[in-house]
Amino acid sequence: MSNISYRKDFPIFENNPGLVYLDSTATSQKPAYVIDSLCDFYRNDFASIHRWSYSLSEKSEEFYDNSKKKVKEFLNANSIQEIIYTYNANYAMNILACSLDCSNMLKAWDKVLLTISEHHSNIVPWLNLKEKIGIEIEYIWIKDDFSLDMDDFKSKYDEKVKIISFTQVSNVTGQIYDLEEIWKLKREDTLFIVDASQSFPHMKVDVKKFNADFLFFTAHKVMAETGLGILWWKKELLSNMKSVFSGGWAINWVKEDSYRQASLPGRFEPGTPHISWAVTLLKALEYIENIWWYEAIDKYDSELIKYTLEKIKEIPELKLIWWTNAEKRVGVFSFWLDWFHALDVAEELASKNICVRSWQHCAEPLAIRLWINSTFRMSLYIYNTIEDIDRFFDAIKEILKK
Ligand SMILES: Cc1ncc(COP(=O)(O)O)c(C=O)c1O
Repeated sequence: MSNISYRKDFPIFENNPGLVYLDSTATSQKPAYVIDSLCDFYRNDFASIHRWSYSLSEKSEEFYDNSKKKVKEFLNANSIQEIIYTYNANYAMNILACSLDCSNMLKAWDKVLLTISEHHSNIVPWLNLKEKIGIEIEYIWIKDDFSLDMDDFKSKYDEKVKIISFTQVSNVTGQIYDLEEIWKLKREDTLFIVDASQSFPHMKVDVKKFNADFLFFTAHKVMAETGLGILWWKKELLSNMKSVFSGGWAINWVKEDSYRQASLPGRFEPGTPHISWAVTLLKALEYIENIWWYEAIDKYDSELIKYTLEKIKEIPELKLIWWTNAEKRVGVFSFWLDWFHALDVAEELASKNICVRSWQHCAEPLAIRLWINSTFRMSLYIYNTIEDIDRFFDAIKEILKK
C-alpha cells in the first residue's frame, strides 16, 4: 500500500476520532479545501447572479460559470450551455423524463430499456411516464458473472426502443458496465442516457467516449455539497426541447397572457440557483486536479479494493453479492450473513463507530431478482485506510462469534 494519505485533508476524521466511515456510496465526506471555499465565498464574493449591474454580482456569477466550465472540462463536453444545474440526480432524471414528455419526444408504446441494477431515480420517473402516456419499460438482465447480458439486450432492443437509460456503475455491486459496447449497437433513432452518479466520483467520465445524449450525476458524492445535481445534454437536443419548469430567468419575455422560453441553459434553470453549492463543486473538482486527477483516485481505490477482496476470503460466512477483481469495480461491497438481518449488522457496526448502509440501497428490482432481501454495504473512498477495512472485518468476526 502506498503511503499517500488523503485522510488528513478531511476534517471530519480529526473531529470524530475513531470514526470508520464506509458509506461514501451514499454520500462522500468533504475536504477542507471545499468546506473553506463555502465560507470564503460567502465572506467575499456572494451576491445574486444573472442580470448584474454591480461588480459583486459579476464576481459571484463568474464563480457559477467557472463551476460549469470545470464540469465541462471533466466531462469533455462541448459547451457550458449543455450543462444544467438542478438539485440532485433524482431531480435531474425527473426533469429529463418530464421534458422528453412535454416535448412530445415519447409516445404510447415507445420502449425504454433499463438495466435491472438501476437506482430508483432511473426507474420511477419512467414508471410515471408509463402511467401517464403508456410507454413500455424493459429491463436488461445481468449474467452470472454480473456483466450485462448482451443477448438479452439484443433480443429486447427492437424498433420500439426510443431510450436506453443505463447506470455506468451499480451502487449495490460496484460493477462498472461497459457502456461503449452499448453505444456500438445503438441506432441513430435511440437516445442514450447515462447515470454517472457512482462513476463520476471514481473515474474519468467522458461523454464522447460512449457517445451519450444525456448524462447526470450528483455533486455530494464527489466531495461537493448536497443539493446540486448535474444534467448534461447534447446542445442540439437541448435546443429543441421544452422545459418542464418555467418562471424567472427561464423566459425571454412575459406578457399578461403569454411568455417565451429563454435560450440555454437558462430555460432549464428557473429562479435563483444554488450558487454556493456550485462553488463547492468547482472546488471539489479542483481538489481532484490537485491530487493528480483520477489516476490518484484510481490507484488508491484499487489498492483498497484488492486489500478488501483478500480480507473477505478470511471469513467464509460473509457472502458478497458480486465477486470480481479490482479492474471491473469501484470500492462498493454489499454483503449478507445467513441468520443475521442486515439492519442488525449495520446497527452492531454503528455501535463500534463503523458507518455502513443496509437494506436494498434504492435498487429494489435488483434485490427482488437476486432473491436477496437485504444487504449491508461498505463503500470506500480516498480518505479510507487499511485500518478502516481491518476494523470492519474485525467487527464482522466479533458479530459472528456472538
Ligand atoms: C446510481 C445512483 N443514481 C442516482 C442516485 C441518486 O442520487 P441523489 O440522491 O443525489 O439524487 C444514487 C444515489 O445513491 C445512485 O447511487
